[in-house]
Amino acid sequence: MTEFNHILNALPWPSLLVGPDLRVGKFNSAAQSMFELAGSKTLLVNIMRHPNVLQAVDVSLNAQIEQKTRYVQRKIEGETVFKVHISPVDPIAGVMVCFENIQAAELLNQQRRDFVANVSHELRSPLTVMIGVLETLQGPAKADPLAHETFLGIMATEADRMQILIKDLLALSQVEDVQRQRPQTEICITAVIKQACGHVEQAMQVAGVQLTSNAGVAQPPVLGDHTQLVQVFVNLLENAMVYGAGSQRPRVWIDVEIVEFDLELHIPALRICVSDKGPGIPAHLVPRLTERFFRVDEHRSLNAGGTGLGLAIVKHILQRHHGRLDVSSVEGSGTTFAVVLPL
Ligand SMILES: Nc1ncnc2c1ncn2[C@@H]1O[C@H](COP(=O)(O)OP(=O)(O)OP(=O)(O)O)[C@@H](O)[C@H]1O
Ligand SMILES: [Mg+2]
Repeated sequence: MTEFNHILNALPWPSLLVGPDLRVGKFNSAAQSMFELAGSKTLLVNIMRHPNVLQAVDVSLNAQIEQKTRYVQRKIEGETVFKVHISPVDPIAGVMVCFENIQAAELLNQQRRDFVANVSHELRSPLTVMIGVLETLQGPAKADPLAHETFLGIMATEADRMQILIKDLLALSQVEDVQRQRPQTEICITAVIKQACGHVEQAMQVAGVQLTSNAGVAQPPVLGDHTQLVQVFVNLLENAMVYGAGSQRPRVWIDVEIVEFDLELHIPALRICVSDKGPGIPAHLVPRLTERFFRVDEHRSLNAGGTGLGLAIVKHILQRHHGRLDVSSVEGSGTTFAVVLPL
């Protein structure tokens, strides 16, 4: 192998040297597998028919200037987006064509756009209601004190919804800010669970849901952020109460156990399960639970004042703790959310 071949193979991207005759002279092994190249001197047009790439190569060859373009490779497994860098070597050797995989960046951009669209949508609904109510109060219901009371109540509910959304969005961004800093303080999970139960106890009583826990038993300490872990269990308990209270004698229970060797973490772990005997979640929707704004039953969640951000926040907090969330659900029987924290 020549020194040039070694240099080509050391490049991080699939790369081809295209001569003035528009044939592929040399290529690295990444390009070989990307285009399934058999030998050299293949016409560029035979391995890709993208007009914008062919045109950019042509311009670069003729004018000896750098060109950049996009190339989408379509395979049975799916699409991959590349940024193509075309740089002239010299008029005899031709041009170097390098393919930078920008699929991950494109995906991130798409997620960002979706997020902004979702937030706008979530804010628009209560705002539309409030504008409608204001117009009614200024117009047809101007002199009707009874209507005033009803409409002001509606406005208060919608304003509350917006406030909760903003609070959850801020919580999400705060968690993302510290995502890479693993907590270094030893905390007591029993105290975390006790505090979380304290938050929801009254609402559980009002809803007629029985809450039990075996968390009283002393547990080994974990490295954690006490406040964030309380946030995790408050959300799981609230969810169990709101969405899991389908049965006649609704019950939510917490079960803490030590796992000697967690098969995913490869170390001992603490497993804290929050279970209910509710309607459960269809299996195909379980993987989507931690997506931002995802709700199984949109109507029910909105009625309960849910933003659909709770489990996304839970996921981020647990990632920060190097732990995870396991969900097991049987439709008609109930759901268990298991928080796994490394010991
Ligand atoms: N225990 C459960 N049983 C059945 N469905 C559940 C349960 N927990 C969560 N879900 C479903 O998952 C969805 C997402 O939950 P998540 O906590 O992320 O959002 P939310 O409760 O709607 O809003 P938020 O927590 O932000 O107030 C819920 O809307 C609900 O449809
Ligand atoms: Mg929730």
